[in-house]
Amino acid sequence: MKEPFIPVCEPLLAGNELKYVTEAVSKGWISSSGGFVKEFEQRFAKYLGVEHAVTVTNGTAALHLALVAAGIGEGDEVIVPTFTMIASAAAVCYAGAKPVFVDCERDTFNLDVSRVAEKLTPRTRAIMPVHVYGLPCDMEPLAALAEKHGLVVVEDAAEAIGSRYDDQPCGALGDLGCFSFFANKAITTGEGGMVTTDDAELAQKLRYFKNLCFPLTGPRRYVHEHIGFNYRMPNTVAAIGLAQLERVDDYVSMRRENARRYNERLRGERGITVPAERAYAYNSFWMYAILIEDDFGLSRDAVMQGLEARGIDTRSFFVPLHRQTGLVEYGADVSGSYPNSEYASARGLYLPSSSGLTAEQIERVCRELLALRR
Ligand SMILES: Cc1ncc(COP(=O)(O)O)c(C=O)c1O
Repeated sequence: MKEPFIPVCEPLLAGNELKYVTEAVSKGWISSSGGFVKEFEQRFAKYLGVEHAVTVTNGTAALHLALVAAGIGEGDEVIVPTFTMIASAAAVCYAGAKPVFVDCERDTFNLDVSRVAEKLTPRTRAIMPVHVYGLPCDMEPLAALAEKHGLVVVEDAAEAIGSRYDDQPCGALGDLGCFSFFANKAITTGEGGMVTTDDAELAQKLRYFKNLCFPLTGPRRYVHEHIGFNYRMPNTVAAIGLAQLERVDDYVSMRRENARRYNERLRGERGITVPAERAYAYNSFWMYAILIEDDFGLSRDAVMQGLEARGIDTRSFFVPLHRQTGLVEYGADVSGSYPNSEYASARGLYLPSSSGLTAEQIERVCRELLALRR
């Protein structure tokens, strides 16, 4: 008998989602005006320990809005790790600025902070650390560098809900933190995002630009002094977000337990590199990411195909940004070498990582993976 398919990630909607959405719908509050938006923002800010949280339509919009609020625009450069999802750099392009790439660390896949200084120019305005797959980027030296050079830190915490750096929540470590609530994230609203900050002025700008630059106070006159965006999250979506947030600690614990089980089975196995650890890092394990090394005896792509044939879904790592034609055509400088990103990109995959994964499913994934080894 064929064993059931294990998706790489599926949402867990096990709390008050339906109740809150029903409440929003039955009362007719389905647009972005509505109590759930405010409540989701307030509770998220409290969860993160920040002053302000501003809902948006997705994580990409969060990054764009954060850059705009920080005043980043044409002629500016933003340091972005080359090993990240395209949205990090796309947001910089939307703002009219230029992404400047820095390689990742070989083992964590996170921005190599020691390589940032060599990429700074008089036009550099911001750094965008990304906490890849849930492992926090090394924020202390990055913050020192940013302070020394007067740079804004826009954290891409899309993959890091529940992650902590030196016991501080990711997304609360820079000037602005950006989150995604896409369906595979630790908490999800299907599509959705949030920007966080402690700075009241930045928060005002976030609210102003996300709502087409309607004046923030006074009567709703159709007078606009700037060009803004419609990045408003609907109340129905925030209703799901609030229900998810009520269970965030459970979901993060479940993902960490997945990782513990995977580590137990896979650490030390020939040809497999398990996720790196750092003393400063509390990893929320958004995804359990491994490298298939040469001595596994089968390529990463062949491993993915082999697992797929056995009903196990995986995803390959990002293709580094310096290899993205769209960014080259935009005018991003892709010269130089990025050996660590290349290494990870060629060998990395992530295994099924849903919060609701069972011990039996993890055992099956590991068994099938190891059976593929030559
Ligand atoms: C690192 C990173 N940044 C940004 C995003 C964009 O988020 P969204 O898909 O909600 O636009 C993602 C998406 O998953 C991501 O992984």
